[in-house]
Amino acid sequence: MTRGSNSGGGDLDRQLASYRNEFPVLQNKLYLNSCSLGAIPHRALDALDEFGGDWASEGTVAWEKWMKKSDLLRRRLADLLGVSPRTICLQPNVSAALASIASVMDFQSRSQVVSSTLEFPTVLYQWQTREGIDLRLADSPDGIGVPRESYVDLIGPDTALVPISHVLYGTGAIQDVRGITAHAHEEGARVLLDTYHSAGVMPVDLARLEVDFAVGGVLKWLCGGPGCAFLYVREDLLDELNPAGIGWFAHADQFAFSPEFEPSEDATKFSFGTPAVGPIYTALASLEIFEEIGMDQIREKNVALIDRLVEGARDLGLDMYSPEDPDRRGGAVFIGVDNPHEVLARLVEAEVVVDVRGGKVRVSPHFYNTREEIDAFLDLLA
Ligand SMILES: Cc1ncc(COP(=O)(O)O)c(C=O)c1O
Repeated sequence: MTRGSNSGGGDLDRQLASYRNEFPVLQNKLYLNSCSLGAIPHRALDALDEFGGDWASEGTVAWEKWMKKSDLLRRRLADLLGVSPRTICLQPNVSAALASIASVMDFQSRSQVVSSTLEFPTVLYQWQTREGIDLRLADSPDGIGVPRESYVDLIGPDTALVPISHVLYGTGAIQDVRGITAHAHEEGARVLLDTYHSAGVMPVDLARLEVDFAVGGVLKWLCGGPGCAFLYVREDLLDELNPAGIGWFAHADQFAFSPEFEPSEDATKFSFGTPAVGPIYTALASLEIFEEIGMDQIREKNVALIDRLVEGARDLGLDMYSPEDPDRRGGAVFIGVDNPHEVLARLVEAEVVVDVRGGKVRVSPHFYNTREEIDAFLDLLA
């Protein structure tokens, strides 16, 4: 099946339609699964070729360029997240970043971690598998969002850390990050924000949100591929925090090969060892597109597509398992259908890529999708 380009109205639609040719998967599939794996653009494929070429032609000399690319990626991610590059450290994945954060917390003085039942499992396993941590989970009264009050009930003088998602992975609900953070800080607890389902599909301003730590990755909405994640540490915490279990890339002067560890002065003190370089190339190439378009525009397009999806699903009499309030909806919606696996098989047959999660069809359009594609998807649900 070949998908045509966007014929929706408006300058933004026209501008974004010009990006469709960048994404090969859009030629073959109705691709609505960007919250799982973002589509790879041609320029990231070219970047992979460049990576191979540099390696092939330069050998170890390529490391100079690779280190520069890694630094540039930190700067690009910092711009995207509204913070200084000093506060960003590349990580192999979010789970590793969480382990580093765990290592700088003093769980003897305060033993509680307050998270929620709707967090992504890896965020909860981190605390479940450590001795001496009292993990408390805030409830979601409607199964869609976790209100500030649910956290307020649990956060207290023994709370060390509050890991929350900006957008919940299983419902697409945007959380009241500022409200929860303000309360956590009043109680002397730190806040760790998981931005995996916000960075790349809506503006994220970590400085404004005032969180202490943040994690995320380039795999999903940022279209950068697997193998590269990031950690943010608030600038004024950098001096006082000394992570354990780090690697030689965390040294202030790693190529001195000193047997004595001396931490780097910025967030790179949270680094491990040799990074996967290919994903740095692909992430840089993909991020260029996000810079060109702008995050406000990407959010505007996503909101328009999600509004259309919600309206169309409601017209079909289907239940939504995402927030009623459009302002609290992130980039994905969850639609209830009878026999979800039968529906999924039908969609697969029609070259539609979505997922079934918790018995609901999860649909996550991105800036490169069109209103016509949403309508074609809705026709298949009817
Ligand atoms: C919200 C959220 N956090 C974390 C992760 C996983 O992190 P990683 O595989 O990078 O450890 C995912 C993966 O799907 C996720 O959706």
